[in-house]
Amino acid sequence: MCGIVGYVGEKNCIPILINGLKRLEYRGYDSAGIGFFSLGSTHVIKSKGKVSLLEEKLNSHVYESHLGIGHTRWATHGVPNEVNAHPHFNSNNNLLIIHNGIIENYQTLKTSLKNMGYSFISETDSEVIAHLIDSFLKKGNELLKSVRLALSEVEGTYGLAVIYEKEPDKIIAARKGSPLVLGIGEGENFIASDVSAILAHTNQVVYMEDGEIVEVFKDKFITRTIHDEEIQKEVHEISLSLDEIDKGGYSHFMLKEIIEQPDSVTNSMRGRLLLDDGNAKLGGLDNVLERLSNCKRIIISACGTSWHAGLVGEYMFEQYAHIPTEVEYASEFRYRSPIIYPDDAIFFISQSGETADTLAAMKEAKTKGALALGICNVVGSSIARESMSGVYTHAGPEIGVASTKAFTSQLVVLALITLLLARKRGMKLDEGKCIAEHLSKIPEQITKILELNSQIEFIASEFQDAKNFLYLGRGFNFPVALEGALKLKEISYIHAEGYPAAEMKHGPIALIDENMPAVFIAPKDSTYDKIISNIQEVKARKGRIIAIASESDSEIDHLVDYTIKIPDTTSMLMPLLTVIPLQLLAYHIAVKKGLNVDQPRNLAKSVTVE
Ligand code: F6R
Repeated sequence: MCGIVGYVGEKNCIPILINGLKRLEYRGYDSAGIGFFSLGSTHVIKSKGKVSLLEEKLNSHVYESHLGIGHTRWATHGVPNEVNAHPHFNSNNNLLIIHNGIIENYQTLKTSLKNMGYSFISETDSEVIAHLIDSFLKKGNELLKSVRLALSEVEGTYGLAVIYEKEPDKIIAARKGSPLVLGIGEGENFIASDVSAILAHTNQVVYMEDGEIVEVFKDKFITRTIHDEEIQKEVHEISLSLDEIDKGGYSHFMLKEIIEQPDSVTNSMRGRLLLDDGNAKLGGLDNVLERLSNCKRIIISACGTSWHAGLVGEYMFEQYAHIPTEVEYASEFRYRSPIIYPDDAIFFISQSGETADTLAAMKEAKTKGALALGICNVVGSSIARESMSGVYTHAGPEIGVASTKAFTSQLVVLALITLLLARKRGMKLDEGKCIAEHLSKIPEQITKILELNSQIEFIASEFQDAKNFLYLGRGFNFPVALEGALKLKEISYIHAEGYPAAEMKHGPIALIDENMPAVFIAPKDSTYDKIISNIQEVKARKGRIIAIASESDSEIDHLVDYTIKIPDTTSMLMPLLTVIPLQLLAYHIAVKKGLNVDQPRNLAKSVTVE
């Protein structure tokens, strides 16, 4: 999604803005631009495509500037091109804005601004903000007041930054529904939509909240509400290091993050898994544990991969904690007037903690009196801060657009919550110990699966030209089938569907022929015999089959074309293992097709628009 970076200080801002934009590339974008003051006038350089193209354009000029803003745009209103890229000017070409989010009433505002004589050059919703602010400046207001008045007319979401030639010592930034953070330096200050853009310069940050506006000078910042009340903000020190957001020698972030999983899942359970007690300790849930363990129903709400983790969570909570559980797409949850009771507990799962649909659903749940809990990866993110309590997944920064290690860490956290609730609601010590024991072995088992990388790469080469794929699994592995299919379609653009294996005969079986590969997730668990029958059904129709199977299973080799053997664990933890080969399979197919794995077309890392 769109990214924002801004700088005011003694240094030349141009390289700072360009490097900041490069750090934001992982979010997904299709054009980029920077705007700055130099030699008494305002400059804007924009480019369609990658930040490197913008950088090339800049190479033919020598600019020196001490205040500027930069943006990566993920197109919503208007095609990706230079005109629609940000920053956008006012009509006097002396005020610039960059904007993340969507202005929902932009058509109405545009019409009234046109009636006032303003003309528009882009197709974007964002350009209206520049002219709207300008209309208040023309009435004699200062910049801050003009921005406040403009924002009071705007409906929708924004992370906004504004600079104005006549007040050249400051950036004004504001937030509503789109993340915004200040970076505090020595004689220099920054703004960004994501700390990774400014981490090279400072680890002192201030998180802006919805309805807040800030004037950022080189040596101070002043925060207010949009209604002009001055507010004091806390400065946080973030522990993230630059190394954690680098590729570390791997060809892609996605591969690095797949390989990192033994460590990331270890970090998710560190200090939380109590082997001797067969239990879990989750400090973030301590203050709500009574209410949570007595709730009548759990709802899990999320999007995409996090929603798939939620489906696994549903199976875990019902089978072990015996609490009725439902899983909802966050985007549907909010708009279907859900019936929510005060004794419901709702977990909102989000890697980024910024997904607009999930954040909105959480706010809705809170207004209806439910216990709203977060499971987030990004510390200090909007969903983490909005939740009443919650658990961080501690997977470390995930930069590859296709989520991998965040998913396995979400599963670990869900398993820990299951253990905690189940033990509180009557699970015997021995059973708790058995699950805890299995969980503690997961990191070394993932390491073992990662050793199959070259075998999986070979299988990928056999299937790279397939046009469609089916992924089939049962029980705990049904959500893994959905996740495997999502990984493949996201980065390889091959059409793939995930199904519960038994559903195949109710429709999808019509698709099976020699051109339709099927991936079966078939470890030796209680559904094994049934899944073998489903494999036979596909084989009888000449479908080519890849099976993810238990290492103890030697019979399956005769039934399928390729097997990837994984270690055994208890069924509720199986998804932590079965998903690893599917991540690698998708990765290798996409690489073999020559695609941009880390920044797949049309996708954004954190989806901050609804
Ligand atoms: C898939 C993927 C997306 C995200 C979804 C939710 O690989 O990354 O489907 O899972 O956009 O994002 P978060 O978890 O950040 O709320």
